[in-house]
Amino acid sequence: MSEVILEALGIEFTYPDGTRALKGVSLRIFKGKKIAILGPNGAGKTTLFLHFNGILRPDRGKIRFNGQDVSYKHASLLDLRKNVGLVFQDPDTQLFAGNVFQEISFGPLNLGLSKQEVWRRVEEAISATEIEGLKDKPTHFLSYGQKKRVALAAILAMQPRVLICDEPTAWLDSRQALRIVDLFQKINQQGVTIIFSTHDVDLAYSWADYIFIMKEGAVIGEGVPEEIFKDEALLKEAELNKPWLLDVAQFLKKKGYLAERAPLPKTKEELLRSLAGADIACSNNRLRAVP
Ligand SMILES: Nc1ncnc2c1ncn2[C@@H]1O[C@H](COP(=O)(O)OP(=O)(O)O)[C@@H](O)[C@H]1O
Ligand SMILES: [Mg+2]
Repeated sequence: MSEVILEALGIEFTYPDGTRALKGVSLRIFKGKKIAILGPNGAGKTTLFLHFNGILRPDRGKIRFNGQDVSYKHASLLDLRKNVGLVFQDPDTQLFAGNVFQEISFGPLNLGLSKQEVWRRVEEAISATEIEGLKDKPTHFLSYGQKKRVALAAILAMQPRVLICDEPTAWLDSRQALRIVDLFQKINQQGVTIIFSTHDVDLAYSWADYIFIMKEGAVIGEGVPEEIFKDEALLKEAELNKPWLLDVAQFLKKKGYLAERAPLPKTKEELLRSLAGADIACSNNRLRAVP
């Protein structure tokens, strides 16, 4: 059985102005998975993430990392923040150092690592996020997309076991977004658990292993992408569209272009392969409705 790495148990949280942002959130994140959290603005995604790395402390309930309750004592918080890295949605919230190198080395320097180890990690993070050319630049001169990559590099240099990204592809152009997803894929293959919030249903459908849907401070649905996005009532309640791939695949099944029992395609390539298969089946007269 797979192992739970991060857990929220009955988290309730109200901001000082009286906004009840989380109303009893419980969820379990399994080690090594790719998790998407979907939900309309104001659902509580960011507030939950701030609990996951101990920036906010719940009014009720608890966070458990690697089987241990977070106690909010200094050592427990340090351990949590070393292992659970949070990349903020707005890089300007996160970036504070003068230049890119200082920004990325700050975290590892504070872990008490040797200079060589800090250098090694910084170089690795810079190379993973492909920002070699920016090393000596002041962070405030960077473009939004560049800042996003620096913010991600700063967290990667901490070598967290869980990487949390709050809307990592928001406001990026589609090429930049693809590069981020490619990078996530590489990081995940190294065993890092990835949690991200997004409004991009296509990304969540294609890429996540498991999805949580939040609304008004609560988790209103969870499951594997195929199940989540087949649940029309849930999608409506969460104000989510259906991923285009699923829409097209369901249409093709209804029309008989795809076999009813064929697995649902998760990528465009898979869909095209199934259609090529349908073509062949047609030439053998096995699929009646193929034109
Ligand atoms: N610092 C804050 N002070 C008061 N209310 C806040 C603060 N941050 C967020 N909220 C409120 O908490 C609720 C959840 O917000 P948030 O966690 O940011 O949701 P999401 O990330 O899903 O958009 C919203 O009603 C939001 O307005
Ligand atoms: Mg948010």
